[in-house]
Amino acid sequence: MPSYDTAATSGEEFTASALVGATRERAESVLREHGLLRLAGLGGRDDVLLAVGRLMSSLWRHRDADPDGLTAIRDTGRHAGRPGFAGLGRGALAVHTECAQHPDPPRLLLLACTRAGDTGGESLLVDGQAVLAELAAHHPAAIEALSAEQAAYFGGSGGHFAPVLQQLPAGRWRLRLRRDDLARFSPDAEAHLPPLCQAIDRNLLRLHLAPGQGVVLDNHRMLHGRTGFSGERLILRALGEPRSALSPGFPSRWSTACPTAPYTESHAAGTPHGQQAPAAQSTVDERHCRLTVSW
Ligand SMILES: [Fe+2]
Repeated sequence: MPSYDTAATSGEEFTASALVGATRERAESVLREHGLLRLAGLGGRDDVLLAVGRLMSSLWRHRDADPDGLTAIRDTGRHAGRPGFAGLGRGALAVHTECAQHPDPPRLLLLACTRAGDTGGESLLVDGQAVLAELAAHHPAAIEALSAEQAAYFGGSGGHFAPVLQQLPAGRWRLRLRRDDLARFSPDAEAHLPPLCQAIDRNLLRLHLAPGQGVVLDNHRMLHGRTGFSGERLILRALGEPRSALSPGFPSRWSTACPTAPYTESHAAGTPHGQQAPAAQSTVDERHCRLTVSW
C-alpha cells in the first residue's frame, strides 16, 4: 500500500485527465503553497506525458532521456558506481536538487512510479522552506555562510559557483544542493554543513509511491532522494518549466543584508526560450542537463 507522510502537503491527489480548468488551477495553487503536488491514476507513459503537458510549458531533454523526453530511472545494471550515474543503480541517494550544476536548474521535477520494486525505494523529500526556518531559528550564522555567492561549486570543469541558500528580492529564497563528488563548498560553508544536514534530516518527508502515483516538485524549493531498493523499480521522470506563473523561489521572513543575486523573472508560463506548448503536449527543450545528476 502507498504510504504518505504528508504533514506538509495538502493531501489531495490529482489525475492527469482532471488537470484542466479549475482543477488545474487548484493543483497549481497546491504546488505554489507546498512546493509539492501529488498525482494518481498514472497508467503509463501517455498519462505521464499528459500530466507533463498540462503542468509544464517546456520539457527539458536530459542526457538520459528517451525520445519523448521522459527518463526511465531504474537499475540498468551498468551504471552503479559511476560518478553522476547513481540514480541508475539501486542504492540510496542523498537528497539533492535536480541538475544543481546547471546555471538555472529546471523549476519542476515530475516523478511517476511505474513499478515499485520489492523492498525499499522510498522517495525522500525535504522542503527548503522548513530547512530555512529551522536554520533561522537556531543557526542564523549558517544562513549567512551558505548564502554567500561562492558558498558552493557545483559540477565538474563546466560547473559554477552558487549559493546553497540564495536570497532573492521580495522576501523569497531558493535552495540548491547536492553532496556528491560534483559538489564542493567554501571553508565557511563547509563549516556550516552540519547544522544544514541536521535541519534536512529533521524535515525529511518519506513517500512510498505505488504504481500509478507520482509527485511534481518545485525543484528550487524541494530536495529529493530515495532509499535503496531491491526488485524491479521503475520511475519515469520529467524535468520542465511551469505552464502557469510561479514566483521565484519560496517565501521566508528571514532576511540577510541584501539578496545574493540580481532579481530574475520567474519561469512564469514557463518559456525559457519563449516557447508555448499546446495545452496537452509540451515542447521538448533541447537544453541538456549537461552534467549528470539523476535520481
Ligand atoms: Fe535527482
